[in-house]
Amino acid sequence: MSDQPLNIVVGFYNYADVQALEGYLRDTGITILSAVQDAQRVFDDAVNLEADAVLLCPQVTGYRHQMILDLLLHVERPIPTVGLVEATSDDGRAMVSAGAKGFVTLPLDETQGNKVVVMLRQAVDEAHKERQQGQVKTRAVPSSRLQAWQEKVITIWVPKGGGSTRTTLAVNLAVALSHAALGNQPTCLLDFDMAKGDAHTMLGFTANPDYAARHGWPLLERGLFDLVTWTASRWGQQGEGAITPVLLRNYTARWGEDSQLDLLPGLYAPHQADAREFDNRQMIYQMGRRIIEVMRQMYAFVIIDVGQDFTRPLHRAALEAANEVLVTVPPTWTAVVDAANAMPPLKHRLGDLGKFKLVITRYSAEFGLSEKEIIQEVGLPRLVTIPHDAVVAETAINTHTPFVLTDEGPLGESVRELAANFLPYLAEKRRRGRSLFAGLKKVLVRES
Ligand SMILES: Nc1ncnc2c1ncn2[C@@H]1O[C@H](COP(=O)(O)OP(=O)(O)OP(=O)(O)O)[C@@H](O)[C@H]1O
Ligand SMILES: [Mg+2]
Repeated sequence: MSDQPLNIVVGFYNYADVQALEGYLRDTGITILSAVQDAQRVFDDAVNLEADAVLLCPQVTGYRHQMILDLLLHVERPIPTVGLVEATSDDGRAMVSAGAKGFVTLPLDETQGNKVVVMLRQAVDEAHKERQQGQVKTRAVPSSRLQAWQEKVITIWVPKGGGSTRTTLAVNLAVALSHAALGNQPTCLLDFDMAKGDAHTMLGFTANPDYAARHGWPLLERGLFDLVTWTASRWGQQGEGAITPVLLRNYTARWGEDSQLDLLPGLYAPHQADAREFDNRQMIYQMGRRIIEVMRQMYAFVIIDVGQDFTRPLHRAALEAANEVLVTVPPTWTAVVDAANAMPPLKHRLGDLGKFKLVITRYSAEFGLSEKEIIQEVGLPRLVTIPHDAVVAETAINTHTPFVLTDEGPLGESVRELAANFLPYLAEKRRRGRSLFAGLKKVLVRES
């Protein structure tokens, strides 16, 4: 290992740690170029000040694991990250699996202080070797990659049940945003449908031990119902504070190996919403708002599937907290009229409906209603039209493989196009066309 001077950027949470760090770095040839508390600043300073490495506390504002790889794969030179984490947390391991070269724990005592010096030097050496040997592919990351798109809460809703394809769209959009071959963003799918949750079944999970045994489907141990009942028992004393990132992680399930998708499974059966806890509408509404707020800090995207009645507390929370509401309307007069009728009362409650966008779904001109008629009746701007294709849609459910990963036809394309609205670089990938599908196929072949 060389003793060359190294320049680093530090992303810190507690200033006392920076002071301790300065002490341990004295006379080591390692200089702190900048110490900041915000992920975007860490990223920009590391790139613009030409840092050799980053020492990063995952509690910095706006932190996401993705930034570790973005820095390491920076085109001009690799910028490796070393984690600066609480000893009692699991953050270090998580950062390493996201590409960090190692981590030291807080508080910085003598041992950790010496370790930081060794680790930073090792990280830089290792990253340079990898780059020279061509083991990593660089990525043209815009210098403000973290700002190139915005984190979003997207709620999928329509005031009509049955065949409105809400859950189908929520599941496929969440997979498009999170799968390694597509959006590759940390994404959480919240199943807030108070009538009954379907998202888990669509993704191939079950809450029924009998199904799990017979079909080999992964068994869910917890979901929304358990989260609500547990939190309700502490609500009186702790209020919102009862819901923390650590708590929420206990209730989500990771979907697939090649995606960054976590699911909060919904209600397993309609009778769960009859439980005593759900009678307290104000509490359920506040819990819903709080769950969304905490999830928003943990993920780049939060996708929420809700049921048709916008007055039910979790549905209302999801509509109010969303940055975007996608209203899925199939080409049937009953659906179109229901959607049109819901708009005035909704406007009365929420005020501006600017975030509401129309998604025409299951569309075929043969059904006798034109896209133009639907847009005019509902009175919302249309984002995308998703074509009718029952064979692809039903097969995807029955094979537990969302069609956005498998369908090269117009149905898969339409949802990838929708996802690209929220992640501009997906649009680029789509333009490159076929190569994307070659990549996807490889991933899927490996999975099966
Ligand atoms: N583009 C499509 N073309 C044809 N059929 C579709 C399409 N998308 C979804 N479907 C089918 O429509 C049915 C209903 O879908 P989904 O469960 O997503 O609707 P929903 O609005 O969530 O309904 P619920 O009221 O049960 O929550 C499913 O059988 C699904 O396969
Ligand atoms: Mg549904």
